[in-house]
Amino acid sequence: MRTDFDPAVLPRNEFYRLLTAVVVPRPIAWVSTIGPDGVANLAPHSFFTVASVAPPVVQFTSVGRKDSLRNIEATGEFVVNLAPEGMFEQINDSAVDFPHGTSEFEAAGITAEPSLRVEPPRVAASPVALECEVYSTLGIGDSTIVFGRVVHAAVAQDVLVDGHPEITRLRPLSRLGKNEWGTLGEVREMARIRYADWQGPADGR
Ligand SMILES: Cc1cc2nc3c(=O)[nH]c(=O)nc-3n(C[C@H](O)[C@H](O)[C@H](O)COP(=O)(O)O)c2cc1C
Repeated sequence: MRTDFDPAVLPRNEFYRLLTAVVVPRPIAWVSTIGPDGVANLAPHSFFTVASVAPPVVQFTSVGRKDSLRNIEATGEFVVNLAPEGMFEQINDSAVDFPHGTSEFEAAGITAEPSLRVEPPRVAASPVALECEVYSTLGIGDSTIVFGRVVHAAVAQDVLVDGHPEITRLRPLSRLGKNEWGTLGEVREMARIRYADWQGPADGR
């Protein structure tokens, strides 16, 4: 038995609550931007993923028109900082709807550092920064998807093992439904199977 939910019938926010409860876990892009006034901005966005491999493009969605989106439209640049477990409170603090013109870096006491290829600063204590130039934007209803070409990736040396980021050192937070957040949990490994090695369905092997 299943319960049916019809987006044509349910109020917008109820279907939004359902969608965000079932599209889980979502990685969090901690997006830093800079306004034309020079004020640095920082906000988490969990509607976030890789959009393209070559060129390397990431995407996040602004639901409504927020400072992050306005700054990106004005400057064409942003940084996606990884949201690490150790910065749980600061990440949530940076989502406060501070008055326009407030820097979340200053208001939430988050230390910034200069980026290499773009103007918006990075979060100094985040282990990964993807410096992006806007590739394109796409408006869908009340939302805008921002596609950013990654022009530089800066990764803290202490999360690298043999030159590659190690998940147990990155310890990314994720967004779940309601006010829930996820931490890393158990990490399992399983190699992709080539057809030449196919042994039949898992329950029969
Ligand atoms: C974990 C988390 C994830 C969020 N994800 C999104 C998102 O994907 N899109 C969005 O528009 N807002 C999202 N928000 C809300 C924004 O972070 C919030 O509205 C913020 O104030 C926007 O800041 P800005 O106006 O400086 O851009 C999220 C908030 C939290 C705490």
